[in-house]
Amino acid sequence: MIYLDNAATTVKKPPAVIESVTAALTCMGSANRAAHDISLSASRIVYEARGKLAAMFSCDAERVVFTANATEALNIAVHGVLKPGDHALTTDWEHNSVLRPLYRLERDSQVGLSFAPADSAGSIDYADFERFLQPDTRAIICTHASNLTGDMFDLGRIGELAKTRDILFIVDASQTAGIFPLDMKRFGIDILCFTGHKSLLGPQGVGGLAIGSGVDIAPWKVGGTGMDTFNHDQPQAYPERLEAGTLNAHGIAGLSAALDFIHDTGMQAIRMKEQALADRFYQGIKDLPQVTCYGDFSRERAPIVSLNIGTTDSGTISAELADAFGIATRPGGHCAPRLHEALGTKQQGAVRFSFSWFNTADETDAAIEAIRYLATE
Ligand SMILES: Cc1ncc(COP(=O)(O)O)c(C=O)c1O
Repeated sequence: MIYLDNAATTVKKPPAVIESVTAALTCMGSANRAAHDISLSASRIVYEARGKLAAMFSCDAERVVFTANATEALNIAVHGVLKPGDHALTTDWEHNSVLRPLYRLERDSQVGLSFAPADSAGSIDYADFERFLQPDTRAIICTHASNLTGDMFDLGRIGELAKTRDILFIVDASQTAGIFPLDMKRFGIDILCFTGHKSLLGPQGVGGLAIGSGVDIAPWKVGGTGMDTFNHDQPQAYPERLEAGTLNAHGIAGLSAALDFIHDTGMQAIRMKEQALADRFYQGIKDLPQVTCYGDFSRERAPIVSLNIGTTDSGTISAELADAFGIATRPGGHCAPRLHEALGTKQQGAVRFSFSWFNTADETDAAIEAIRYLATE
């Protein structure tokens, strides 16, 4: 199978990730819970992973909080900063893991909500970020890259706007962490949410938040932390404040190895290769009859190309790609309902091709040939 569904999860992982998880499964204790060697070595592995993520995102290590995935991180961030009467600004590019927590807060907790709208080409005008701000806007919450089109926001531009208005800037970096530099200080990001199993090349079941200094997030879940046992409240100190319950330290061990792989290989080298493959694919299919691609291919973008062939349902094309050509893609709505609505693809969906470091030019060419065949069939 040629796997081109890396925006959902990267299936091929660096061998060191597999070795690290396997080693952890054979001998890992509970991190931060006891002083015996088995617990201490787990604590050290978690501590080191925090440090590597802090270096990647340019924040303090104790302000890296581990969660199960980006969805949990986004829920913690959104519920932890927005209060009744607050207003939040987000965008039509967002994934349901941003939208659904916000919709719920709007419905149940008197949080006002506005969207920077996408036009029929999927573009969002930066002027709309300013236009939709209100005096009570507490946070701007947006993705770095659309998981449907691969189009990206200029985070520095939005971060600057947020800073000048004293508004929190929360970024969903699910599609870009590990391949794009994400310096929180440089981009004015207050809270960055990431998931370990996509472009960070780690295992599923681990993600997190990186929190800027001075930013406070009220705990969304509370419980055991291995410290301050007799306190009825969650500890004040990060990361324990937001890390109730035993961490997925097996997954964190794998993520730590993946971070070493990214560091040693070079984030830029990884990005260049993935972007080159995505561009090769786009160039190969863009002029084929009946093929429509979505997004702006004139700018830097995440390694994603989504398309449709005529009016054929995206599920039919994706199934054909899998059955007849052995190519794995993702059809349908991609948990990005508002952008599909803007693009006019709510019914048809779109077929998403997404590339990783482990894909090859030959695989990309096979995908081009498959689309050529289906488009001209
Ligand atoms: C842009 C974006 N945000 C959030 C998520 C949620 O990630 P996870 O399922 O790891 O929580 C995804 C995953 O598809 C995504 O693409």
